[in-house]
Amino acid sequence: MIGEDGYFGEGVARRWDDASSDMFLPGIVDTAVDVLADLAAGGTALELGIGTGRIALPLAQRGVKVRGIDLSRAMVARLHAKPGGSAIDVTIGDFSSTRVPDTFSLVYSVFNTITNLRTQQAQVACFRNVAEHLAPGGRFVVEVEVPEVRKLPAGHKIVPLYTSPTQWAFDVYDFATQSLTSNYVEVTNGRGEYQSIPFRYVWPSELDLMAQLAGLRLSNRWGGWTRHAFTHESTKHVSVYEKPEF
Ligand SMILES: C[S@@+](CC[C@H](N)C(=O)[O-])C[C@H]1O[C@@H](n2cnc3c(N)ncnc32)[C@H](O)[C@@H]1O
Repeated sequence: MIGEDGYFGEGVARRWDDASSDMFLPGIVDTAVDVLADLAAGGTALELGIGTGRIALPLAQRGVKVRGIDLSRAMVARLHAKPGGSAIDVTIGDFSSTRVPDTFSLVYSVFNTITNLRTQQAQVACFRNVAEHLAPGGRFVVEVEVPEVRKLPAGHKIVPLYTSPTQWAFDVYDFATQSLTSNYVEVTNGRGEYQSIPFRYVWPSELDLMAQLAGLRLSNRWGGWTRHAFTHESTKHVSVYEKPEF
């Protein structure tokens, strides 16, 4: 059942910061924060889908003033309970339409969060909303996976993520609708618990077109936070869009 916190309710929030994903390794977080602090260029930053503050808190500790938008009160409660968290102002709402009364030198969306918007229309609306929040010369940074469709043989829809005797996970793709669900099963004391989260996967070129519709232009695309080149083999990208000065 989906509640008012969307797919990131209390059950997810409780476990979010224990996640074993690479995204939580200090080396990964620090590298992302270096890039974002650089791009904020002394101004204020806005995180779309700020969650429990995995990135926002260390960014604020670098001296960047950070605000956030998030749908999930449960995720944001975790952020506000952490040291320094209560100083981060979060607006509860949908980041494709919610307006925060400020302008920013940096708006960012990390960890595939843009794909939580499940229609092309909502993703386009998000770019337009970002453009309205940016000061002239401001940047929008998006970190997102390249859709893993090359892992699918013809006629197949499922990409396994991991398996163990008690945990398994798989993605299900639908090319017709560009939808993707990530599915997780965990067995405890012989009982399975199942969770499924829906996304809309999006191509780098499609994001560029959305940016163009919103009056933004691509200024950099890297294969990751270490700013290495984005290539044919890249599995994700960090893209930087700029709002023109004039
Ligand atoms: C993948 S988590 C990322 C959290 C955090 N940015 C991080 O990197 O750990 C996505 C976050 O975006 C929020 N979210 C998803 N869709 C949203 C929407 N349409 N509007 C606002 N927040 C949303 C979720 O509640 C969740 O906190």
